Amino acid sequence: MTLAQPLKSESEMASRKALNQWLVMPILLMNCFVLLGQCARPLNTEEGEDLVTCKHTFHFQVCISTLRSVPASKTSDLKVLAEIALNLSTTYAADTLSYVHELQSNSSAANGSNNNIYASRCLSDYAEEYSEAIENLKDSKEALANGDCDQVDTLVSAAMSDAETCEDGFKDMQSGDSDSTSPLTERNRYFSELCSNALAITKLLV
Ligand SMILES: *[C@@H]1O[C@H](CO)[C@@H](O)[C@H](O)[C@H]1NC(C)=O
Ligand SMILES: *[C@@H]1O[C@H](CO)[C@@H](O)[C@H](O)[C@H]1NC(C)=O
Ligand SMILES: *[C@@H]1O[C@H](CO)[C@@H](O)[C@H](O)[C@H]1NC(C)=O
Repeated sequence: MTLAQPLKSESEMASRKALNQWLVMPILLMNCFVLLGQCARPLNTEEGEDLVTCKHTFHFQVCISTLRSVPASKTSDLKVLAEIALNLSTTYAADTLSYVHELQSNSSAANGSNNNIYASRCLSDYAEEYSEAIENLKDSKEALANGDCDQVDTLVSAAMSDAETCEDGFKDMQSGDSDSTSPLTERNRYFSELCSNALAITKLLV
C-alpha cells in the first residue's frame, strides 16, 4: 500500500503535525486526491521511499541518516520501514541501557562523593525506565505485525514518556544545582526523536 505520497507544501506538513484521531478521515480523503493526482504520471522511484517517508516525520535528518544505515530500508513497503524505525529505537534504548549499567558500575567504584546517592538513585531509575521502554518497543513490534497501529502508537508513546520520566527524575534530584545536567540528556533527546519518527511512520499506515 502506498498511502505515503509526498505532501510537498509546508502547510500540508503542518496539517500532518496536527493529526488527531478525529482528523484521520479528512486526511485520508486528502490522500486520495493526492493519489489520484499521482496516477497521471509514473511514480518517482528515484527519490527513494525512505526520503519520501521521512518527509512525514518531525526529525527528518535523524530519520534519513538512521534509515539509510539499514540496507533493508531500500524498500517501498511502509510496514517494513515502520518496523525498521521501531528496531532502531529498540537498539538505541538497549545501547542506552548498557551505558547506564556502565555508569552504575563506574559510580559504585568511586565511593565518597556527595553526588553518589543522587547519582545511584537516578541511575537505577534510568535503568528501570529504559528496560520498560525496551519492553514497550518489543510489544509495539508485535502490534505492528498484527496490523494494530493504534496499539503501536500507545506503546511507543509510553516508551517515549519513560525516557522523559528519567529526565524529570534527574532534575528533581538536582534541585539547587542549576548547571548540572543529566548524563543522559542527549541520549534521551535522541531516543525521543527516534520514537517520534517511528510513530510518524506508523501513522502513515493507518
Ligand atoms: C527487526 O529486528 C528483528 C530482531 O532483531 C529482526 O529479526 C528483524 O529482521 C528486524 N526487522 C527489519 C525490517 O530489519
Ligand atoms: C567507566 O570507567 C571506565 C574506566 O575508567 C571508562 O573508560 C569509561 O568511559 C567509563 N564509562 C562511562 C560510561 O563513563
Ligand atoms: C566503597 O565503599 C564500600 C563500603 O563503604 C567499601 O566496602 C568498598 O571497598 C568501597 N570501594 C571502593 C572502590 O573504594
